[in-house]
Amino acid sequence: MKVTRREFAKSAMSAAAWSAAPSIAHATQPRFFPTGFLWGAATAGHQIEGNDINSDFWLLENIKPTMFSEPVLDGCNSFELWAGDLDLARRIGLNTYRFSLEWSRIEPEPGLFSMAMLDHYKAIVEGCHTRGLKPVVTFSHWTMPLWFAERGNWTNPDSPALFARFCGRAARHLGDGIERALTLNEPNGLVMEKSSLPESVMRAQATMFAEANRVTGSTDFVGGPAFAEAEQMQPNLLKGHRDASSAIRAERSLLPVGFSLAIVDEQAAGEDTAMRDTARERFYGPWLNTAKQDDYIGIQNYTRRRWDAKGALSAPAGARLDQIGNEFYPASLANCARYVHKVTGRPVLVTEHGIANEDDLPRAELIPAALTHLQEAIAEGVPVLGYIHWSLLDNFEWARGYVPKYGLASVDRSTFRRTLKPSATVLGEIAKRNSF
Ligand code: BGC
Repeated sequence: MKVTRREFAKSAMSAAAWSAAPSIAHATQPRFFPTGFLWGAATAGHQIEGNDINSDFWLLENIKPTMFSEPVLDGCNSFELWAGDLDLARRIGLNTYRFSLEWSRIEPEPGLFSMAMLDHYKAIVEGCHTRGLKPVVTFSHWTMPLWFAERGNWTNPDSPALFARFCGRAARHLGDGIERALTLNEPNGLVMEKSSLPESVMRAQATMFAEANRVTGSTDFVGGPAFAEAEQMQPNLLKGHRDASSAIRAERSLLPVGFSLAIVDEQAAGEDTAMRDTARERFYGPWLNTAKQDDYIGIQNYTRRRWDAKGALSAPAGARLDQIGNEFYPASLANCARYVHKVTGRPVLVTEHGIANEDDLPRAELIPAALTHLQEAIAEGVPVLGYIHWSLLDNFEWARGYVPKYGLASVDRSTFRRTLKPSATVLGEIAKRNSF
């Protein structure tokens, strides 16, 4: 591990010095997380595997015009190097690894399932167990098989049944060893992101899809970040989640199933909460409602957003911003956990939380500060099952390419060598002790 004692001491000191976490410095008793708490790091297939050439994103990244700043190409070469990734998670001191299945590899043509690819993901599940890692498996983390995109993606009325068929098949093959299943990653995300995008993005997307139709010879191509279709896809995504959950449970009745919600800590800037409440209802309402029938809910939070009577405000003057403009705000995660549990009554699993930063120190500050707040929420009675950090590796960050750095480990882009950062030690020490 390339973390010197001095680096660790430095990051731990600045973590303790962070003003939002005075309780770390003043704590005299170790403060424990619940027994069995999941401590993990997350990845997603397309962002690390490389060469998933049968997926909608692969196509969109490689046509012209494209909305992507660069193509994923080899990713972190994790399709080959996955065992080393698991070793890394273990070396950090984690007990959980979240990864996703690439549907486009498992079902490259409609109804044709690849045994070799199912076995590939089964080996990862088993590899987790041999290393004492609990596998949390996302059945779909945004990428879709090309054939699914050519048929309109989630705008297609058949999409819920097609997704449920895939999930059932994959659960039959892998389900025994999975700790927790997530059907969809952030199915509410596009609606939320679209709300702050200019109309020009919809036009750029239409041009990109026209080219995708041309090269695939289809007429209904919808793929990648389909902002223009975001609202139209919601009913099918909701049904897709419900049908997929039933298909997974039909194969593995004891496997806990949920989905992961993209959530910002929405705050009212003054007395008037109307705009904040409307945003909450629009971005999260239908999904929180559906989660009431699930075993648990995954939450993925990166920051807060403030609302006044006119709309969303930008970050306060002087706020610290990360590489993609998110405000550094460690309390947001616990606030989201409180809100989501209050509305759904379900246990909450943090399936993503992190920060985009070239310099690792803010990550080493954020982790203990956010966990201090999370522990307060747990003490208040919010059932939190675990904390899974985004991400294990610096990876392909979708339209932004490889620029934003979220990893607990950096990755050399030509040798694929992984190097742990000091923040990995910060998280690992807390995980190993299950306390501060
Ligand atoms: C997504 C990840 C993404 C992360 C950071 C989440 O919305 O699930 O795939 O990389 O945010 O941008």
